[in-house]
Amino acid sequence: MTRTVHALVTGATGGIGRAICLALAAQARRDGHALHLSAAASRPGEKLDRLVAELRDAGAEATGLAADLTQPPDCARLVDEAQRAGGDLDVLVCNAGASGPGRLADLPLAQWERSFALNTRSAWLLAQAARPGLVRTRGSIVAIASMSGLAPHPGYGAYAATKAALIMLCRQMAHEWAADGIRVNTVSPGMIRTPLTEAVYQDEAVRAQREALVPLGRIGRGEDVGAAVAWLASSAAGYVTGQNLTVDGGVADHMLALIPGRPGKAAVEG
Ligand SMILES: NC(=O)c1ccc[n+]([C@@H]2O[C@H](COP(=O)([O-])OP(=O)(O)OC[C@H]3O[C@@H](n4cnc5c(N)ncnc54)[C@H](OP(=O)(O)O)[C@@H]3O)[C@@H](O)[C@H]2O)c1
Repeated sequence: MTRTVHALVTGATGGIGRAICLALAAQARRDGHALHLSAAASRPGEKLDRLVAELRDAGAEATGLAADLTQPPDCARLVDEAQRAGGDLDVLVCNAGASGPGRLADLPLAQWERSFALNTRSAWLLAQAARPGLVRTRGSIVAIASMSGLAPHPGYGAYAATKAALIMLCRQMAHEWAADGIRVNTVSPGMIRTPLTEAVYQDEAVRAQREALVPLGRIGRGEDVGAAVAWLASSAAGYVTGQNLTVDGGVADHMLALIPGRPGKAAVEG
């Protein structure tokens, strides 16, 4: 009998979330197992219905679920509803997030709290609710952090802090839960073109400037992140836990290359 893998993906209606769902569906086809995808958004509606139809076309059994993950009871309810639909989770992908800019000097307290509630706390509460099932399946968790969690990002005071905290939260869970066979990892995307960031890329000059910063020469796509998540969630990564995989075309490590007048530059380039 074909084994069915059950994955819950939050933020599934977003650019990266949709790509993660499609990457998991593609991986299931390659691995020859069935996939039940519980795809979650903040609210029910046409966008979620369209995604569920697309995932079914891609060969997955799919259930659309809605929860406001800034609300603790919604986190537990979401996992419960997913489990009712598809059984214990094999994979939990904590991808829902929002990046509202704001400088720490005058950031409203409500924005700080909302950012941590969604970007950090929800991953812990979802994982806590999913844990008994993940113990039974020896499953895995992947959370989507950001390169903003790896280096200070001026103007994104709360967002950067939430993502740095998310990376450490996942490392912490990885070690506390390793003995139960649960793996926990994060993926930190760089500049990815999605509905969240689309407004920036509508300005051709800004798009070109951003692209020039990326050693691999292009802005990232949701699929780049989806492929990394599908790999970390798969048995191919069965000995990987507590790790943060940066998927940014090399941009976060590129800072030192931008320093002007460094010794040897003219010789090397000239
Ligand atoms: N795009 C980038 O360049 C980039 C870079 C680094 C990291 N990331 C991270 O990648 C993840 C996905 O980003 P994206 O670009 O795909 O964003 P997006 O297109 O704006 O999608 C965000 C997703 O999160 C859901 N969501 C928002 N608020 C929620 C809430 N209160 N409760 C439950 N779900 C909620 C949205 O659901 P609805 O559709 O129902 O609102 C949507 O599905 C985020 O964690 C983000 O921080 C993105």
